[in-house]
Amino acid sequence: MATTRRPVQYLAVAYTRDIPAGRVYPVLAGGRELILVRDGEGNVYALDGLCPHQRLPLAGAEVWKGVLECPWHHFQYDVCTGENLYPRRVYPAQLAARLGDHVRPLRIYPVRTVDEQIQVGMPEAGGSPWTP
Ligand code: FES
Repeated sequence: MATTRRPVQYLAVAYTRDIPAGRVYPVLAGGRELILVRDGEGNVYALDGLCPHQRLPLAGAEVWKGVLECPWHHFQYDVCTGENLYPRRVYPAQLAARLGDHVRPLRIYPVRTVDEQIQVGMPEAGGSPWTP
């Protein structure tokens, strides 16, 4: 089955020097609150800036070894995939299922770097964000 890529427009949101490793850097892109995260190898990731748990801001989140921890109730997310690592992977399956939307993945966005400028790919024409 062929996959269809949605058209995206890349928006400049920051410079690589702006983003300290291990901390999140809040930005606005296309009217959405996002956070940028830079790992120890210099890779930059863009994720939704609101935690799926209670839609509270992730601006004060900590990042350690590719895991972002929400400052509010300590849910944890993989910065590469947006997957909820805690509590989804820790709780017994039946209990995790009861958490429903609270443990859905954090949305991620494509990122590219052009001459030290970080650009985030946003869906064109008002499309919804996607997880590649
Ligand atoms: S708002 Fe993030 S864990 Fe509750």
